[in-house]
Formats: sequence, structure tokens, C-alpha cells
Amino acid sequence: MTLRKQLYDGKAKTIFTGPGDDTLIQYFKDDATAYNAQKHAILAGKGILNNLISEHIMLYLKDQGIPTHFIERMNEREQLIRKVSIIPLEVVVRNIAAGSLVKRLAGDHIRISLGTVLDQPLVEYYLKEDALNDPIMASDHALAFGLATGEELDTIVEHTLTINTLMQGMFKSVGITLVDFKLEFGRLEGSNAIVLADEISPDNCRLWDIETGDKKDKDRFREDLGGLVEAYRDIANRLGLDCSALDQERKD
Ligand code: TMP
Repeated sequence: MTLRKQLYDGKAKTIFTGPGDDTLIQYFKDDATAYNAQKHAILAGKGILNNLISEHIMLYLKDQGIPTHFIERMNEREQLIRKVSIIPLEVVVRNIAAGSLVKRLAGDHIRISLGTVLDQPLVEYYLKEDALNDPIMASDHALAFGLATGEELDTIVEHTLTINTLMQGMFKSVGITLVDFKLEFGRLEGSNAIVLADEISPDNCRLWDIETGDKKDKDRFREDLGGLVEAYRDIANRLGLDCSALDQERKD
């Protein structure tokens, strides 16, 4: 057995070398951070739930023809993934106004407030650079600075809008409104093909109960609402996922 080597320790995940040259292992931690890690807590079980939820969504998207880095879930906290070089863009899709969109643009000209349904999905790019606080950029910045080619950006937007439609339907069927979410893409080692990477979980989506408007995502932590793990578990339950590993860890 080869010993795994830690390659990268992120805010919510750690990346290790995988069993093959073209694979990696991503480990889901219980760390919750917000406001560029100025706020931090350990929320027991969050990593287990995000691993399960992200696996479910990645498999669903793969099934619907979206290329992803996901290979398989290995255990309650780890996934085997394909090695990619991450494009340093956070691609955010918004269906309903919330978060930084409202803070940045609501005013006399753009009459939005929390909960305004947007006329069409809005795709935004943020530079993945903690030291600069992940600033918003135009697609032209990505082109001008060589972060991605025009063809790659076209592929990214196409996948992103399809993912939005698929995820809106998936969540609506379990009584959840998909308000907004963040995606990351990478280039597969070898072919350079663009694939969906990172994770899709309540850490990087806004998810509201259709009936009550209850928040079922990381805003519970950002806004000190409490009950984050219970909310993520509700999402996992609604998606029909087996959360017994969470109960087992809590017993141990
Ligand atoms: P925002 O309203 O704070 O810009 O966030 C929009 C969506 O993107 C929201 O679902 C949270 C997600 N997001 C991340 O996952 N990571 C980030 O670093 C940021 C800024 C947003």
C-alpha cells in the first residue's frame, strides 16, 4: 500500500494523493468558515453530510451528461476524484437575489431585495484568491489575464446553466428552492477537458424551504442562526440519503 501525501489543506476539505497518478482523494472536514475565514467553527458531522450530498448531486449530474471529477465515495469522509488543474474562478449562479448581490447592487436603478426572483439566471465570476477577498470579475478579465480561453468559458457557461436547470428540478421535487450556488471547474490531466470539480453541498448553495423559507445552508452559520448540521441533515434526508454514518460517529 502506498502512503498518501497531503497536497492541499483547504477551509473545508483536504486533498491527498490518490491510488493512481491521475487520481486524488478529497477529505471532507467539519470546519465551517465564513467571511474569508474570519469566522470559524467545527460543526460535528458537517463533513459527513457534505460528502453524501455532494456525491448524490455529482452522480445525478454525471448521469445527465455533465462531465465531473467525481469517481466514487470511498467512505464517510472521503471521495476518489480525477486529478484536475483547477481554473481559479468561482462561478456563481443566482436565481433569486440574496447575499452579496443585494449588498452590491440594490438601489434606485436595480430594484431588488432579498428574495426577488430574477428574470433569468445570472452567472457571475469571482477570482479565487483569498488574499484579495475573491473579487468579482467580468469574463473579459478571465480572458485578458489568460485564466481560461473563450472556448473554455463557453463550455463552462453551458455546463453551468444546464447544472442550474437540473439542480433546480432536483431540489424543487423535495420542497427546496435553489436560490444560488457556486461551482468550480478544472482541466483534466492529459486531455485538458473541462470538468465540474470541487463539491456541491449546502456549504456552497443557498437552499430555502419552499413552504416556510427556512434556510437550509451555510447562511445558518454566517448569520448565527444555529442548527446547521440539522438543516444539512434535512437536505440529505429529503434526497433519500442514508445518514447512518452520522449517527454512528455521534455515538462513538
Ligand atoms: P454571495 O451571495 O456571498 O456572493 O454567494 C453566492 C453563492 O455562492 C452562495 O450560495 C454561497 C456561494 N459562495 C461560495 O460557495 N463560496 C464563496 O467563496 C462565495 C463568495 C460564495
